[in-house]
Amino acid sequence: MKRFVLLIVLCLSALAGVWLVNEQQKKSGVVEAIEARRSIRIYKDTPVEREKLQLLAECGVKAPSAMNRQEWELRIVDSKEWIDGCSSAYLKAVEGTGKADYMKSAPGFKNIFRNAPAVIFVAAPEGVFAGENVGCLAQNIMLAATELGLGTCFLGSVQMMFAEPAMAEYLASLGFSEGYHLRYALAVGYPDEQPDAKPRDMSKIKFVE
Ligand SMILES: Cc1cc2nc3c(=O)[nH]c(=O)nc-3n(C[C@H](O)[C@H](O)[C@H](O)COP(=O)(O)O)c2cc1C
Repeated sequence: MKRFVLLIVLCLSALAGVWLVNEQQKKSGVVEAIEARRSIRIYKDTPVEREKLQLLAECGVKAPSAMNRQEWELRIVDSKEWIDGCSSAYLKAVEGTGKADYMKSAPGFKNIFRNAPAVIFVAAPEGVFAGENVGCLAQNIMLAATELGLGTCFLGSVQMMFAEPAMAEYLASLGFSEGYHLRYALAVGYPDEQPDAKPRDMSKIKFVE
């Protein structure tokens, strides 16, 4: 009888283990991350752990690239002083043009990086597939961030913002190599909003018979 009870307990534990692993896999699936990801534009002040930022950057670098050339450079900024200083420099440079008012009027405005406490800047040289390469890199980071409970926002606008002469000092401090141009930044932080999914047009997809 004792043996029978022990056998039942062992079987139940094994089943529970399988169920737990399945649940875990379900929650950490890439498809779930794709469904859950949103562009986040309001963040908590909570700093993002450096290990997580490092992990995100490494997930980015594990993206495919044409001929595995990996023609990209990443710079992670989590210094509030840098982010606030850079924001002030930009807002001062564009004062009176309407851009500053537009940015400052956004809900929960804290900085020009959609209010994030950390920013990952990505640069690449000009060239065939340059955009495709860094696009893959960005998506890896954004999906990994979703899985880690972090929000992100793709910021193409930094290309224009950092073209302002007043931003030269901040651009230089990123230390990108000769020939590499800033392509975009990814705002990263703990979300302080839960936006609905934006609509997608599935009619763009067609099977060809
Ligand atoms: C190339 C590119 C540039 C973008 N630039 C900006 C930007 O400068 N500022 C911003 O707030 N969002 C930017 N976005 C985010 C888009 O607005 C957002 O992905 C889109 O509205 C869909 O919303 P979702 O990301 O929540 O699904 C950019 C996205 C891409 C792919």
